[in-house]
Amino acid sequence: MPESLKPPKPPQLSRTVESRVAIRKHPVHPMLVVFPIAFLMVVAPLDLLHLWSGLAFWAQMAMVLSAAGLALGLVAAAVGTVDLLLIPVVRRHVSAWSHALAAVMLLAIAAANTWLRWEDPVAAVWPWGLLLSSVMALLVGVAGWLGGGLSFHHGIGVAGHPGTEDRGPDAPPEA
Ligand code: HEM
Repeated sequence: MPESLKPPKPPQLSRTVESRVAIRKHPVHPMLVVFPIAFLMVVAPLDLLHLWSGLAFWAQMAMVLSAAGLALGLVAAAVGTVDLLLIPVVRRHVSAWSHALAAVMLLAIAAANTWLRWEDPVAAVWPWGLLLSSVMALLVGVAGWLGGGLSFHHGIGVAGHPGTEDRGPDAPPEA
């Protein structure tokens, strides 16, 4: 078997920290974030589509997705907060706090964006709606990037491999 296809040996495996909110070791937070990410990311393109086509439908769609992204984002944030509060090693990562801060800013802007559009989704698009959606798209990228760093760089929410040393969920981060 070629070397690249062989399973990694224990010393090459990164150490991991399991999530406290998981279904059979599958962390729930990453399952929940996909919809708010997709919904909040697409609001700015829908605004542009509305401005380009003049069709009210796209502006109404932008309002619905902003509200749905906010609601589902709040659920995801609640679950993420449980991991942040219950796993001490997570709290010692600066990127965990940066991620939480970016996520809270994202949800605050999603709330402002939804509120702005509630009465008249069409009139709200230009200029403030588009401005808020653009900031929202940027923050989705920042929060998602930092969240991905927690999972893929620091192994948070990743179930331990039998070959790794079991340091427990409260072990300090590696140097
Ligand atoms: C205060 C709110 C939040 C906190 C405290 C938080 C905390 C965390 C934690 C601890 C992780 C590591 C994985 C885990 O423990 O399950 C994580 C991963 C992640 N979070 Fe959050 N989170 C929050 C809100 C959000 C929101 C609103 C989004 C997106 C809309 C988001 C996107 C992500 C992503 C993309 C990952 C990486 C998941 C993966 O693919 O493995 N988070 N977050």
